[in-house]
Amino acid sequence: MRKRLGIALPAIIAVVVLGASFLAAWAFLGEAGRSVEPSSVRRLIGLSQANLSEPWRIAMTEEIRREAAAHSDMRVIVTDAVDSYGRQVADVEHLLAYGIDLLIISPTDSAALTPIVAQAYRSLPVIVLDRAVEGYAYTLYIGPDNRLIGRETGRYVSELLGARGGTVLEVAGREGSPPTIDRSAGLREEISKYPGIRIVDAVTADWLRDRAEDILVDKFAVSRAPDAIVAQNDAMAFGAWLAARRSGLGPIDIIGVDGLGGTNGGLDLVDKGILSATFICPTGGKEAVDYAIDILDKKDGIPKKIYLRTRKVTAGTIASATPPPDAADVTAPPDDADAPAPPDAADATAPPDDADAPAAPDAAEGRGAPQVGSESRWRIANTRSVVEAARKAGIELHFVDGKQKQENQIEAIRSFIGMGVDVIAFSPIVEKGWEGVLAEAKAAGIPVFLSDREVDLQDDSLWLTFVGSDFMEEGRRAARWLIGYMKDRKNADGQVRIVELRGTEGSAPALDRNRGFEATIAGHDGFSIVRSETANFYLDQGRDRMREILASETGRIDVLFAHNDDMALGAIEAIEDAGLVPGKDIVIVSVDAIREAFVAMIAGKLNCTVECTPLLGPQLMKVVQDYMAGKDLPTRIVTSEEVFPAEIAKKAISERKY
Ligand code: AHR
Repeated sequence: MRKRLGIALPAIIAVVVLGASFLAAWAFLGEAGRSVEPSSVRRLIGLSQANLSEPWRIAMTEEIRREAAAHSDMRVIVTDAVDSYGRQVADVEHLLAYGIDLLIISPTDSAALTPIVAQAYRSLPVIVLDRAVEGYAYTLYIGPDNRLIGRETGRYVSELLGARGGTVLEVAGREGSPPTIDRSAGLREEISKYPGIRIVDAVTADWLRDRAEDILVDKFAVSRAPDAIVAQNDAMAFGAWLAARRSGLGPIDIIGVDGLGGTNGGLDLVDKGILSATFICPTGGKEAVDYAIDILDKKDGIPKKIYLRTRKVTAGTIASATPPPDAADVTAPPDDADAPAPPDAADATAPPDDADAPAAPDAAEGRGAPQVGSESRWRIANTRSVVEAARKAGIELHFVDGKQKQENQIEAIRSFIGMGVDVIAFSPIVEKGWEGVLAEAKAAGIPVFLSDREVDLQDDSLWLTFVGSDFMEEGRRAARWLIGYMKDRKNADGQVRIVELRGTEGSAPALDRNRGFEATIAGHDGFSIVRSETANFYLDQGRDRMREILASETGRIDVLFAHNDDMALGAIEAIEDAGLVPGKDIVIVSVDAIREAFVAMIAGKLNCTVECTPLLGPQLMKVVQDYMAGKDLPTRIVTSEEVFPAEIAKKAISERKY
């Protein structure tokens, strides 16, 4: 049985948006221009905008104003840095002095704005939009997936040019800016797959229509016209078209990015046949306001990074390119009474009595989740979180334990396809080997969500959204902590000899934690991994591998880096059995931050744990519900995580939820 949801929208209130002189002139206006009591404002948002001259940034600002206007207790103050980072720093200082509750900033320059963003973050929540700052000193980053945008433009070029192949000219944005770099890299990555297609030239036009037009008129005077032009935004794509017209060239396929509305916006240009396609680059304005509310309401589970999805618009799809109306009346999942009782932790994770094969799910509609297995306490907490969140959301969940085998997960996915579930979500045990079964899900029209672990596939269209951690960053964090900790503790020879216990071979966390850790220690003298063994994330395998290593390793071992806490806890037993003192004779850093790791830190046996949250259920159910409501979904939602050194274990343990 399905129930229907009604959403009542609050009254719309106009918002006053002021420029750099806002402090003197600021006032609140109500619906009909009446003054609104400032005391009714509970959420005062400062929006520090890089510039208000680029159409895309104007659209972002408008979207934020529009979304905020739906909340009678919210006001937005906008500042325009006119593309000067010095001015943007001053803008943020003014906003902070004014007493805003939350800062939204779209930086002109990532590095230059990093210190002021970090300063703001010390006193209030900060949402960074579009261009990231360096490090993690902010509450939430929301931005486009620029590499994916680049890949998508390349894929479309390959469709247009087909088997005959051809030449491509790239018109890039401002040199050195992250979207320029990432879109270029994505385009090249994709085009390299087609031997008949060549990028013959690239020009830089700073995101500006006129500059693109001028540069290309000069270029077309001396060189042959390409078969296709990929411009990194629609303004430059329009400039390219104007240049081709002025140069008297025949039709060229021109592709742009942004997909804005309005005259000569990307949608209009596609409609007029000037562009073959535009790729919508969402501004994130709506998401910023939604999350600002959740952050100010102190909701749990706010992610750290959200990468928004692009959408291709061609003449054939232009009619459906306008944003879908807010789903005010959506089909909701079954109500609680009909939902199956959640398995308790033991049911969800206990190993099967006998067989290795996954238990067959019942036939019904709902969401299918083939889980990796139950290798660690992290996994038990993860299973519990997903099951509990599905129950709370009223989503019927069909859960299958993959028992650490890819073939079991594939079999479970096939059975979900056969059942005709609405959505499949899973944590792929390893990165590779999913093309076939995910293509079957796509052919059946069932969207696939990735939770916890990612896949390594050529075709990004085989999955919809990833919700999970940045494993590479976890590896970097472990290494950064270690480098700091060992600074004054090195042996006389200056060497830090590290043993690594790796997670499941070929799995995303094992690959990325290793990469992040290795890359970070690489620049530091004396640090080296002397042994690296896999223990599959299991406690007992961690103990056994460490025992073998201690018995066979002739040189001294200074450090253990374990890819999860369970393996570290197993290794601690082996270290003690060998007559050594864990945490002293061998420094230990691991990943996950399970409660048992805190107990070990308080006992002095573990030195640090890097958080990897298993509590992905609520975020996952939110994207599933958004999907069912027909909303646009991000490509990646990256969770917010911390580092816990032993010194703070006593204080932090009471707040651990897993
Ligand atoms: O994929 C997440 C990893 O899988 C956790 O860090 C580990 O404990 C687990 O089993």
